[in-house]
Amino acid sequence: MNYHQKTEHSYKSVRMNSGFLDWATQPSAFKSYPGFYPRKKLDNAKSLEGAILLAGKITFEKKYGNDEYFLRTWASAGALYPVEMYVQMRSVEGYIDGVYHFEPRSESLALLHELNRDGLERHAALDYDIKGALFLFASPYFRSSWKYKNRALRYCLLDTGHHYGALEIGAYANGLQSEAVFGFDKLSICEIMGFENKELATMLAFIGEKTEQKSKEISERLPFVSPTDYFEQNGFIEEAYRASVEQSCRESDRQKPSFDFDKISLLNAIQNRRSIRAFYAHSISKDEYERIVSVAGQSMDGLDIYAVINNVDGAQKGLYRGAELLKAGDFSQKAGYLCLEQALGSRSAVTLFVASAADSYQADVTRAGIYGHRVYIAAAMLGIGVSGIGAYYDGEVKEFLETDKHILYALAIGR
Ligand SMILES: Cc1cc2nc3c(=O)[nH]c(=O)nc-3n(C[C@H](O)[C@H](O)[C@H](O)COP(=O)(O)O)c2cc1C
Repeated sequence: MNYHQKTEHSYKSVRMNSGFLDWATQPSAFKSYPGFYPRKKLDNAKSLEGAILLAGKITFEKKYGNDEYFLRTWASAGALYPVEMYVQMRSVEGYIDGVYHFEPRSESLALLHELNRDGLERHAALDYDIKGALFLFASPYFRSSWKYKNRALRYCLLDTGHHYGALEIGAYANGLQSEAVFGFDKLSICEIMGFENKELATMLAFIGEKTEQKSKEISERLPFVSPTDYFEQNGFIEEAYRASVEQSCRESDRQKPSFDFDKISLLNAIQNRRSIRAFYAHSISKDEYERIVSVAGQSMDGLDIYAVINNVDGAQKGLYRGAELLKAGDFSQKAGYLCLEQALGSRSAVTLFVASAADSYQADVTRAGIYGHRVYIAAAMLGIGVSGIGAYYDGEVKEFLETDKHILYALAIGR
């Protein structure tokens, strides 16, 4: 995929870019509709509402001087949170049927459009309606392109995967199951949502049932407010989105993963999950490693998972593809160098690289994000730390892995 190649980092490209950022110009990370839209406060004790909260609520607040940062249940490149979540409720007790916007700060849903035998499904070109909650993830890409420039579309898609990953595990924690939908008419959804070019529809998902009933199209665009306080267009990203928006998606996308986590510990892991900032370089066990990758790897056909094993008790050091040892040896320094010289990559117990042919680009990058989120949660359940790594020398990673496939994501796991 052209976009991915054109946004590769190399030793030289990273040094040619000053990387200077004026934090005072950071676009807002929260979208708010005016106060007159009716809001419904989400109640943790109700299973669907609990799942929605776990998909995106704020779990940590940091203060630097006068600036406040809010970290959420999902990991996000640079904590920029370039994904908004909308929920269409149909036949859900206590709710007016309608399309709502999720607000992390007020932990509520704002009603944007009341359904009148219409629905988003027709615009998405789905051949069924959803009785229950239909989720739309959409990316205000400028939150990320402000910092990451052209490479930002990658992070918008990976972050969508993390956000959905948080919904998936939040649903499980509440005794529900979510299903992901990657193949839908994204441009038509952008149109009816009134996104202009400021948000890009990236993914649908649902918690509920498919029904034969088919609602009508929504006749008028939904109300729209800009997701950021100001906006700078990036034509390269918009073109890359459009160029890859209609690629087909794999059938296996529809398979449902299963988890067998103890729910009390899981709630604790979701609430306390954070990206690790440094490792002591202690080992993890082979059982722990295998548990993490087997939970994460469910229905991830099309993604190749490479592992640089640095410090796993009972496993030989080296580079692996899945369980197959490709090269034996200590590649910890190499892995750190490949991750843009971040010590996270060398002091980890394992550094993973996710690769794919990217013939279904948007879905593959999003699924790499879902994979990443499952790695975070499965590791957190074992008291093991993780950091997503979106910055790596693409070309040199490919050379090291001896693959022509695109490198979509990296993850460092350890203690
Ligand atoms: C797609 C993606 C890429 C990331 N890349 C890096 C990275 O290259 N280096 C790093 O230190 N952290 C990276 N992170 C971790 C984020 O900085 C972290 O998720 C964010 O600060 C929010 O904090 P939290 O995960 O503790 O909630 C990445 C996270 C994601 C989701």
